[in-house]
Amino acid sequence: MTKEFSKKIAVIADIHSNHFALEAALNYAKEQKVDEYIFLGDYVSDYSCPERTMALLYQIKQQAKCTFIRGNREDYLINYHHSLGTANPTVWLDNSTSGSLLYTYRNLTKEDIAFFESMPICKKMEWDGMPTVMVAHGSLTRNNELLQFGDENTKEVLKNLPTELLINAHTHIQGSFEYMGKRIVNAGACANSFGIPKKAAFVIMHGVDGAWDIEFCQVPYDVKGLWNEMEESGLFETVPGWSRVSLQLAYTGENLCDPCVKLAMELCKKRTGECNWPMVGEQDWEEAMRILGVLDFVTLQKEIC
Ligand SMILES: [Fe+2]
Repeated sequence: MTKEFSKKIAVIADIHSNHFALEAALNYAKEQKVDEYIFLGDYVSDYSCPERTMALLYQIKQQAKCTFIRGNREDYLINYHHSLGTANPTVWLDNSTSGSLLYTYRNLTKEDIAFFESMPICKKMEWDGMPTVMVAHGSLTRNNELLQFGDENTKEVLKNLPTELLINAHTHIQGSFEYMGKRIVNAGACANSFGIPKKAAFVIMHGVDGAWDIEFCQVPYDVKGLWNEMEESGLFETVPGWSRVSLQLAYTGENLCDPCVKLAMELCKKRTGECNWPMVGEQDWEEAMRILGVLDFVTLQKEIC
């Protein structure tokens, strides 16, 4: 009996420097003997040692067919890089608001930035005998557009989609949504999907007999390794607020990242009369975290056990 045509493609997004989660995802994908990889952006920032994430990406690029899409975090880093030395350089500080981005930038190379610049924000993927698929970090036109399931902008994107299927990321919410015969699959965030604590979330596209079947993967990773590396990196001291909300998301699945920045900025404005990002006081972060119930480092460490 002839073996039917089949193809397996791993789609991994929002790694955010969590190379422990990336490694677990890659190991699972290799065990499943995937044929190729699509990476959907936001490779770095939020967690420690971005250079280790980059090393894993360069390694898999040598080993297998890979497609790389650019996320909004890459745009932040590219824009910051090009602003340096100009009349209006972007200001990032070693604080809870922008310190994670600054730390990330300091640990990247010019080659990494050039690699990010080479990536498109979306791509039409074609394979012999299989339906064409669009892939993107956000939408087809903006890599920072949130396509939440059921929202009007998401329906609009699906209505105008040139393919039947769009695979994207950015919302950190893994799942799928259909509208007018089109489907959007969100791969989830490898680093820290909402509601999926301590697991690397991604998808594998199984192409069998001319159709795509989507496997939603959630695999455990070395959460203690992430803790130890974050602690050793110095980020707990320089970027205490953002480190806490990022680890809370990874370890509990609860997203307090954006609400916390928003509240800290409101508190800063109330206290000083104005608030310009990223000049937000650490006391405002502390107060925002207290109000929102962000876990402290001692409680967070207990979460990993
Ligand atoms: Fe993103």
